[in-house]
Amino acid sequence: MRSDWTALPEHVGMAVADRVGGIVGVYPAPRGDHAEIASTVIGSTGTVFVKAASSGPGVRSLRYELAVTRTIDRYPPTVLWDFESDGWLVVGAEHLDGPHPDLSPGSPDLDTLAVTLTGLQEITAPDTRLFGPAGRLSFAHPAMDGDALVHSDLNPANLILTSQGLRIVDWAYATRAAPWVELALLTQWLIGNGHTPAQAEDWLSQFPAWAGAHPEVLDDFAARNASKWANKSRQSAEGWVRDLACWTYEWAAYRASGER
Ligand SMILES: Nc1ncnc2c1ncn2[C@@H]1O[C@H](COP(=O)(O)OP(=O)(O)O)[C@@H](O)[C@H]1O
Ligand SMILES: [Mg+2]
Repeated sequence: MRSDWTALPEHVGMAVADRVGGIVGVYPAPRGDHAEIASTVIGSTGTVFVKAASSGPGVRSLRYELAVTRTIDRYPPTVLWDFESDGWLVVGAEHLDGPHPDLSPGSPDLDTLAVTLTGLQEITAPDTRLFGPAGRLSFAHPAMDGDALVHSDLNPANLILTSQGLRIVDWAYATRAAPWVELALLTQWLIGNGHTPAQAEDWLSQFPAWAGAHPEVLDDFAARNASKWANKSRQSAEGWVRDLACWTYEWAAYRASGER
């Protein structure tokens, strides 16, 4: 859950100010809500994106993200500095400028996403401690195992279209898995952005990992993912949980209908 910048102890705020030559302005990220502090910090020597956490789970998650992003080049923002002080872990990263892509059917941003996904699908998971499919998704199938680096949360808010190409933030759920798992987890965002399940699958069929995934394995994944979100939505009134329950249900129902 997001906290205000003022939640940072004065001492920690000053340590950030030291690293940016004095703080000129702080703008909390309007999207996402997992990280405790996620803000654009404008300093007199430049702009950085700062994520910070103090709770046990928050610090563990941010530490995990920090370790993963340090091993990957090209897609994540470059980590500029990090420090721990007064019970807070604080990470300053390259600030990425640009809009989130439009993932609706026919959007030209989908072509940009396809180029990025093709590159991402070729990355072998680094040798660091990573989630496996069961740890990340709470369900498993032997075909989900693999050696690829799977971001696993490619919702548009975690994608930023910069003048140097599409970049990916929020690596807190990076997972070691088969590459088709990334694509299967993208169906919910394609459907949530206006695709029918058939259109989403048609778009995904351009990727070799999708074409190579056994239809029964995809049926199983769709059904388990939908059932997971249906359970979550029974226990939560949050809109985004209900949305994910709807979108994952749509995909699972399509696969179960035999229309594919
Ligand atoms: N390096 C960055 N530069 C610019 N904006 C960023 C950067 N990292 C994250 N953001 C923005 O902040 C939002 C929240 O950050 P994110 O890392 O996704 O945390 P959360 O776990 O809260 O989703 C993102 O959706 C994105 O819009
Ligand atoms: Mg996010």
